[in-house]
Amino acid sequence: MVASTVGIDAMAFHGPECFVDMVELATARGVDPGKYTKGLGQLEMAVATPCEDTVSLATVAARKCLTAFDIDPQEIGTLIVGTETGVDHSKPVAVYVHELLGLPSNCRTFETKHACYGAMAGLTSAIDWIVAGRARGKKALIVASDIARYGAGTPGEPTQGAGAVAMVVSETPRLLALDKEVFGDYTRQVMDFWRPLYSKYAFTDGHYSIDCYLDALSGAWSDAAAKAGSHDRVAMRNLNACFYHVPFVKMARKAHHRHWEVELGRSISREDEEHAMKVTDSFEVLVSPWLTLNAIVGNIYTGSLFLALIDYLRAADESREGGNISMFSYGSGCGAAFCFAKVVEGASRHAGRLDPSTALAARRKLAIAEYEEILAAYDAADANDGEHLSPARWKLRGDLFYIGTRNHIRQYYP
Ligand code: HMG
Repeated sequence: MVASTVGIDAMAFHGPECFVDMVELATARGVDPGKYTKGLGQLEMAVATPCEDTVSLATVAARKCLTAFDIDPQEIGTLIVGTETGVDHSKPVAVYVHELLGLPSNCRTFETKHACYGAMAGLTSAIDWIVAGRARGKKALIVASDIARYGAGTPGEPTQGAGAVAMVVSETPRLLALDKEVFGDYTRQVMDFWRPLYSKYAFTDGHYSIDCYLDALSGAWSDAAAKAGSHDRVAMRNLNACFYHVPFVKMARKAHHRHWEVELGRSISREDEEHAMKVTDSFEVLVSPWLTLNAIVGNIYTGSLFLALIDYLRAADESREGGNISMFSYGSGCGAAFCFAKVVEGASRHAGRLDPSTALAARRKLAIAEYEEILAAYDAADANDGEHLSPARWKLRGDLFYIGTRNHIRQYYP
């Protein structure tokens, strides 16, 4: 049977236990703090210790998601982990997560990679699986899990972060019904950001990457508008919220500006005060209020877009139900998608289930020296096979950790 509805039924975020304060990081780098806090819009940055890897972050996010929304692991028929910081060139993060969650052996399991677009690729694949009628009542679990690292002292350093967002996709979504028909796609080979197999750190042509992101937004939106057949179906005036990939908070402002321009069909200069003001007002209403989590977590690559969505849904009241939203996913290199969804009736009843504020408030602030020690330890983490990595060294309190390799096999505790 072909599903009439498909969408996001459950969501959860899990991030590292430590963070740095952006004013302290700016001061340590000899930079005016305003550049990080206002220029980029970042207030705090999540820092993963060597014991918190893509697998552990993904698994804990998925456990939180299933538990909070009362979903039995046996209900999961597809598991997809979107990541660009995988732990093995061959073995997918997803298969570790599959074991750690105790998912059934007939659960189709794989990893998707296309920079930050990886989880959106997973989401669309899950939608196709359900719409094609192959789910047979089962649900798909999509996890976006990443650790963004550019290295100390690089221009990208203040745009690092780490964390995972897990979402369950089903025919009976409790949160968001996705528009199955209108998906705008965009692909172009560009060298804006990449991480060669031999490097733990990303290389990026930062300013060019911003241009690539914005061009991809124009391309994906235009494709969505063409597929919609009428601008009305995708028009911003019919939207209650717009979500973008958020490598840093200011980028969402630039994205919203471009979104306006493509819809208007021309560019908006500073001199065009009337439109410039409208864009600013609309940003404050449709985008800015739900960037508070991104501002204190940083770039989590595949999960950044969905973290903003969690911020929106965790504060949803009845007035948000039935409202339309847009989502733009960008992955460097590059691939992008523009899609639309509706908040389902009753979604506000689940708001408390996806609120990560308690865990975020319990994070430990690192002094910059300790953060730098973590970066150095991360560099060495996989180098010594048989060495035991101790969660206690970083005062971690969680319940799943990566503790090093033995015979080149990754070990998790407990
Ligand atoms: P930069 O050159 O260090 O910073 O690099 P800047 O000089 O461009 O300044 C940033 C902003 O701060 C500017 O605002 C300044 O004016 C402002 P804007 O002109 O852009 O509106 N500023 C100040 N504001 C207030 N007080 C001050 C002050 N000083 C300056 N005192 C850059 C910034 C983002 C390029 C860098 O951090 C970087 O390379 N980051 C990594 C790449 C990145 O995040 N790219 C984003 C688009 S690509 C993408 O999103 C994909 C990605 O997530 C990866 C994937 O897909 O896998 C990255």
